[in-house]
Amino acid sequence: MRFKDKVVVITGAAGGIGTETAKRFASEGAKIVLVDLYKDTAEDTAKELELKSEDYLVVEADVSKEEDVERYVKEAKERFGSIDVFFNNAGIEAKYESIMETDSDAMSKVLDINLKGVYYGMKHVLKVMTEQESGSIINTASVAGMIGFPNMGPYVASKHAVIGLTKTAAIEVAEKKVRVNAVCPAPVDTRMMEDIEESGGMDSEDFTAVIPIGRYAEAEEIAALVAFLASDDASYITGSAYPIDGAMTAG
Ligand SMILES: NC(=O)c1ccc[n+]([C@@H]2O[C@H](COP(=O)([O-])OP(=O)(O)OC[C@H]3O[C@@H](n4cnc5c(N)ncnc54)[C@H](O)[C@@H]3O)[C@@H](O)[C@H]2O)c1
Repeated sequence: MRFKDKVVVITGAAGGIGTETAKRFASEGAKIVLVDLYKDTAEDTAKELELKSEDYLVVEADVSKEEDVERYVKEAKERFGSIDVFFNNAGIEAKYESIMETDSDAMSKVLDINLKGVYYGMKHVLKVMTEQESGSIINTASVAGMIGFPNMGPYVASKHAVIGLTKTAAIEVAEKKVRVNAVCPAPVDTRMMEDIEESGGMDSEDFTAVIPIGRYAEAEEIAALVAFLASDDASYITGSAYPIDGAMTAG
């Protein structure tokens, strides 16, 4: 029960990784704010948490719109009084194609959600956390934030940028006792990978061939790392980008 009575805000909470992370935090005593573009799916996730209705809040928001981000932060603060952990996780993939084929709208859409969404989230949650002089932010980057991947230009650019913002924020707020880290998963067994496989005309074996551990990660495994980074056990860890990748980037 590392998060008893702590308030955890999760974006992309209705998705594969968001859902498992919400379950993990709820099982360790947290109150959860589930933020997603799709309210109905987020409500379904919330029901799976087995929390009392007063211990969770679902907010429909588009993380690429600053006014929506301000609103979910305000609603979380009004309802629970603080934000102790922020899992800044919502993100999208793009069509599997080369930089030469990628049109400017596709680039803008990915950057609006994966980069600006993360930036708006940090901007507004950090105001709450620095005032509290406590808190932990975990941004979802990717192995695609650490190395290049052909045919994934917008996604790779957005995730590299998330790591840069993570490091910068960590330095800016360290004195205020707020920690900021990123997680960098290899392919995870969620809807997103199914879409990438389909878009690239490939299957999971094509991707697992370059993962030494020989399989995709499970969303629960990402949730365990996020919970560790959010916990007091990680009190000296800030400004880090943690690969969780079955040795994919180790070679
Ligand atoms: N699945 C993987 O292989 C993998 C690997 C590394 C990193 N990631 C990252 O993990 C995060 C979660 O991905 P996932 O695998 O759970 O995918 P997912 O598609 O299952 O979940 C993503 C969630 O984000 C929400 N979302 C999308 N755009 C949004 C917006 N504009 N505003 C609010 N919510 C929005 C979706 O509705 C969805 O619920 C993403 O940032 C993704 O880039 C995924």
